[in-house]
This record gives sequence, C-alpha cells and structure tokens, in this order.
Amino acid sequence: MRNRLIKQVLAISLIWATTATVAHAETDTSFKDTLAVQGLKLESSALNYQADASKGETLANQRCIACHGDAMLSMMKTYPDLKGQKAAYLFKQLVDFKRGDRTDPLMQAQAGMLSETEMKDIAYYYSRQTASDLSQ
Ligand code: HEC
Repeated sequence: MRNRLIKQVLAISLIWATTATVAHAETDTSFKDTLAVQGLKLESSALNYQADASKGETLANQRCIACHGDAMLSMMKTYPDLKGQKAAYLFKQLVDFKRGDRTDPLMQAQAGMLSETEMKDIAYYYSRQTASDLSQ
C-alpha cells in the first residue's frame, strides 16, 4: 500500500519534471544561453527577445532568398546554405557582419539593414528548415 503511494508520487514527479524541461526548451527562442550569443554583449532588449519564425520567413523571402535560395545555391558553390544551421550561430554571423567583425561586402550590406531582433527572427526561421540536398 505504502509502496504503491511512493511509486505514484515518483511517477507524477517524473512526468512533471519532463514536461517542465520540454516546455522550457520550446518556449525560449532567445538563444541567449548559447555560447555564440553570450560573447556578443547585447542590450537586454535584444538579448531577451523571443524570435518569431513567421516574421523571419517573411523577411527571408523578401531579402535573402535571391542568394540563399536553392536556385542560387546550386549555381554558386561558395554561397552557404542557411537552412538547418543552428539559430545562435546564424544570429552571431549576422551581428558580426553588421559590426564588421566578419567581412564580406555582400553580407555586410545585407546585415547592415537588419535590426538585432530581425536577425533573430530570420536565424530562427532558417534553423527550423531542412538543409537542401544540392548533390544532384
Ligand atoms: C547578394 C547575395 C546575398 C544576399 C541577398 C544575402 N546573402 Fe547571406 N551570404 C552571401 C554570401 C556570398 C555569403 C558567404 C560570405 C562569406 O564567404 O563569408 C553569405 C553568408 C551568409 C551567412 C553566413 C553563413 C555561414 O555559414 O557562416 C549568413 C548567416 C547569411 N549570409 C545570412 C543572410 C541573410 C539573413 C540574408 C537576408 C537578410 C542574406 N544573407 C542575404 C550572399 C548573400
């Protein structure tokens, strides 16, 4: 009898712990706890901003697809595929381009037009896509 009660309590605690972890992982889209972002010394409004994939999709389709879409990727072997890369990594590259810590004339111009919150939206959107198979 007592054993059964202990087992029930344990089972409930386990379910609670698992749900809490999953819920946290799904809801925090700020990627502020990643090493890539920690080094950037962002204002707290940008650091804590929760990325929105649908806003990112709209921006990506307006401004990035011409070079980072499949059609261009299969022609230009040096253009990186952004799809499926880690959001924090992509975000850091954009901040670095804008600050001049990473140099590329095309990308510095592109990143210069984005706010840090827009960069998070786009980075999050691309991180959720599946990388293209460009082998054919
Ligand atoms: C005119 C073409 C062009 C456009 C438009 C463009 N990019 Fe790029 N992008 C490039 C090229 C070329 C590189 C590779 C630069 C290098 O070799 O360092 C690059 C690199 C990047 C990288 C680094 C990827 C990595 O793996 O390190 C990111 C992130 C990126 N672009 C994001 C974007 C986003 C977001 C947009 C839209 C706002 C965008 N780019 C629009 C040409 C473009």
